[in-house]
Amino acid sequence: MIVAVANRKGGVGKTTVTLCLAAALVRRGRRVLVVDLDENATELLRVGVGVTTPTIVEVLEGELRVDQAVVATPWTGVDLIPSDVALQHWSGAPDTVLRERLHGWRAHDVVLIDCPPTLGPLTRNAMGAADRVLAVMEASFSALRGLEGFLDAFDAARAAHNPDLAFAGVVLNLLDRNREQRGRLEELHDAIEAGAVWEPFIPRRAVIAETLGAGRTLYDPLAGRGAPEMAALFDRLADRLLAEVTPASPDEAAAEPAEVDPAPADAAGSSRAESPAVDVVTAGGDGERAERTPGSDAQEIPAADAVPGGSVEVA
Ligand SMILES: Nc1ncnc2c1ncn2[C@@H]1O[C@H](COP(=O)(O)OP(=O)(O)O)[C@@H](O)[C@H]1O
Ligand SMILES: [Mg+2]
Repeated sequence: MIVAVANRKGGVGKTTVTLCLAAALVRRGRRVLVVDLDENATELLRVGVGVTTPTIVEVLEGELRVDQAVVATPWTGVDLIPSDVALQHWSGAPDTVLRERLHGWRAHDVVLIDCPPTLGPLTRNAMGAADRVLAVMEASFSALRGLEGFLDAFDAARAAHNPDLAFAGVVLNLLDRNREQRGRLEELHDAIEAGAVWEPFIPRRAVIAETLGAGRTLYDPLAGRGAPEMAALFDRLADRLLAEVTPASPDEAAAEPAEVDPAPADAAGSSRAESPAVDVVTAGGDGERAERTPGSDAQEIPAADAVPGGSVEVA
């Protein structure tokens, strides 16, 4: 399964969520490849790989095959194709280059593509290559306004060259304890199809930034206080992601081999094949709201002060 982790905004936690999901997926026995498509090359620092020669630039340019650009990281089970500042100058040409390069890639069960904070050629390439698009967002007014354009980009990639692309959902990150954000959360729930906003939400916690900043996973015994609670949240998000490729019937699920076929066709995606019904709140805030489906798996928004403080439900 290839997943594009994207948002046109920077600083919302795309890289953080990518890396924490990668670590959680490894704990679930999956081999994970992180493809860093952000020219700021932050993944290098966070996973502590150091400066390496092969990067995604050579892969996009056709100078290296994917297997030649994959480097091991200090995080066992997580491999990386590093980024490079030279990505800034990559003009992109067709939006299908990355799709061609990753075609038939089976050495990893899950490929997470960490996208740059744009909807430019790199993100379009990621959406062209992916089976699923996962948005990472803050519950902010600007995030709501940006959602429509984001889903347009998703629809365009799907229509142009990736008909099997499906919208996996939205991971909400950086939740604070304030009333304004709670209002935004409610708007977001109203704006997006029921079930598309994944739970649990990820609160703003210094331990997340500090642990990754030190090159550690949240499971590391040396990670700071509160790390296990945060790791448990990402465990649940990882399970949610894996459910995208797990057949509905328990019998089939038991028979499912560990290796996930990167070929996009699978039953789980069919119901989410299209971008979710979205009615984005406009600048005036007067957009009509999409109705939530009664009795659906829509998740209730916890009280603002129930989110931080470790009271997020950890199953
Ligand atoms: N849940 C969180 N709690 C605390 N800090 C966070 C959280 N998510 C991200 N950050 C911090 O916010 C900054 C931006 O996150 P990053 O993952 O780099 O965003 P993006 O990849 O979308 O630009 C980083 O300094 C990161 O450590
Ligand atoms: Mg990033």
